[in-house]
Amino acid sequence: MSEHIDSLQHETRRFAPSAEFAAASLASPALYDAGRDDPEAFWAEQSRNLLTWEKNFSNVLDWSDAPFAKWFDDGRLNVAYNCLDRHIEAGHGDRVAFHWEGEPGDTRTLTYSELTQEVKRAANMLTELGIRSGDRVAIYLPMIPEAVVSMLAVARIGAVHSVIFGGFSADSIRARVDDANAKLVITADGGYRKGRVSALKPTVDDALAKEGEHSVEHVLVVRRGENEIDWKDGRDLWWHEKMAEASSEHEAESFEAEHPLFILYTSGTTGKPKGILHTSGGYLTQAAFTHKYVFDLKPETDVYWCTADVGWITGHSYVVYGPLANGATQVLYEGTPDTPHPGRWWELVEKYGVSIFYTAPTAIRSFMKVGRQVPDKYDLSSIRLLGSVGEPINPEAWVWYREVIGGGTAPIVDTWWQTETGAIMVSALPGITETKPGSAQVPIPGISVDVLSDSGEHVGKGNGGLLVVTKPWPSMLRGIWGDPERFVDTYWDKFHRPDADNPRLYFAGDGARLDEDGDIWLLGRVDDVMNVSGHRLSTAEIESALVSHPIVAESAVVGASDETTGQAVVAFVILRSDQEDAQTPEEAASILRAHVGEQIGAIAKPRQVFVVSELPKTRSGKIMRRLLRDVAEGREVGDTTTLADTSVMQIISDRLTGKR
Ligand code: WT7
Repeated sequence: MSEHIDSLQHETRRFAPSAEFAAASLASPALYDAGRDDPEAFWAEQSRNLLTWEKNFSNVLDWSDAPFAKWFDDGRLNVAYNCLDRHIEAGHGDRVAFHWEGEPGDTRTLTYSELTQEVKRAANMLTELGIRSGDRVAIYLPMIPEAVVSMLAVARIGAVHSVIFGGFSADSIRARVDDANAKLVITADGGYRKGRVSALKPTVDDALAKEGEHSVEHVLVVRRGENEIDWKDGRDLWWHEKMAEASSEHEAESFEAEHPLFILYTSGTTGKPKGILHTSGGYLTQAAFTHKYVFDLKPETDVYWCTADVGWITGHSYVVYGPLANGATQVLYEGTPDTPHPGRWWELVEKYGVSIFYTAPTAIRSFMKVGRQVPDKYDLSSIRLLGSVGEPINPEAWVWYREVIGGGTAPIVDTWWQTETGAIMVSALPGITETKPGSAQVPIPGISVDVLSDSGEHVGKGNGGLLVVTKPWPSMLRGIWGDPERFVDTYWDKFHRPDADNPRLYFAGDGARLDEDGDIWLLGRVDDVMNVSGHRLSTAEIESALVSHPIVAESAVVGASDETTGQAVVAFVILRSDQEDAQTPEEAASILRAHVGEQIGAIAKPRQVFVVSELPKTRSGKIMRRLLRDVAEGREVGDTTTLADTSVMQIISDRLTGKR
């Protein structure tokens, strides 16, 4: 078996920023120099520039108890004050914070003044309900303004939020509530999804009705769906009634920089979800810094839209904390991209004049599948910058995104980061970096990463290995809630070098390769790396090759055990709508095997290509390869409860056994 992840795909297209964009962009090469010369001094300076500290810090980083880090720990600040009050004090109270749009088309505009009033009221309401600094509050809401208001109100009083994505089941809610010992759950009767009201409160009721005692004293319910719900007197309270009783006067008190801000649960490959803990000063510093420079935010003129749900880290860092700390004007949308019509997102871009747009490759590919005639109906000329996050973006989707959504000119920032990193770590800086379709490219200023072999050696240009972060960073996770041992084992043990200057390197769990220029290409989670005849191949690269063929809309590749080669490549593809009847599945399979052979090499040719109508995805859009591996290896399909659509695996099995 070779030490390195072999990489055989090449991309030669380059897109330099236009002179105009470069001249006006906020980022400068000096940021890289400063970040390299003295990262700690660099972050201290950024923090002082971007945030308002009630008590300035003199300590920057304390790494003496690695991997337990402290940043700015003798400083004090209030996170919500930084996102709200100070913008009003600076004279920007009338600036729109959110253009909110409900799925049915109802709208609400919230200026910074209005948002601040709501948060102050909600902070008083929470205090009234007995929530104190350090208490945990679970939030299970649709994408409505109250979701943002709740998060900021919890932060304002020094409590800790645990946002639970609205697609999670009663079991998942209960596990999270129990793990964090949440005192309060904030939910809604229901929210709109795909043209219908999708109930939320009944799921919370089920979660709390499960066996055993729980920690929840109250359930606060926002009225949104107007669907019928059960009521437990004494425990359940209407948000609007309690808000009406609360005062809108509230002075924000400051907390230590390392005061916990939130817990966000993320699943690993095994075991129960991990409660990733983030704290205040360092997290807000890097969220604000990256939001400003990676998205080139000009708060007076830009309209920024990140399509992520607040239930994910992207919604925390790039809908709530980063953009609000920077005083941005945003679009917030409740519903699904294709309701009530397939052009809904582009209609909103036109309506609000969105200039910065940040979404996930899975969404881009689903729009590609339908075709450019949909976005082409709208005026997207306000867009000047595009972002991508969540998985590797294949070069075909990258180019489509730039051409069709970005008018052939918008720079694309492909941002690599994780729930654990808290904020963007690897990305082009617009106006500076010459972009390369498919590559996340370079660490942002102040961040150091490397690609190492399994034994910890730097792999060098042209080679693949494991992505590591080599120095602590301000928005790094501070732990796994209640499980310090698992924190050390999962992230900090693989590259533990007790005798080195820095004894702990952060293991991200992603494969990556360095190209000839030293740019970083993400190759997917290391669990998705296959070993075919001693060659380590990335599922992402083969998927990218498949999607580059004009008949393919989406693909997923898994390694299935194989007697001769160890693992064999097995591909699942969705054909483009207009291609479904143009050839038989057998013909499509043989065309695509040959195509992968041409694009990457014979070693990567799939043993089988299955034409399917759906792929199993989680609600966050991640393909559940584990389930496809079960199908490819002829096993009974495993646990499907976290799928967005649990019928998908049945549809796939039916297709493969000829029932459809
Ligand atoms: C994993 C983290 C970061 C917010 C959304 C997901 C993958 C993320 C990229 C990218 C290639 C990416 C990685 C990472 N990932 N961004 N630009 N290119 N892969 O957060 O659920 O914590 O997932 O998403 O595999 O480890 P998450």
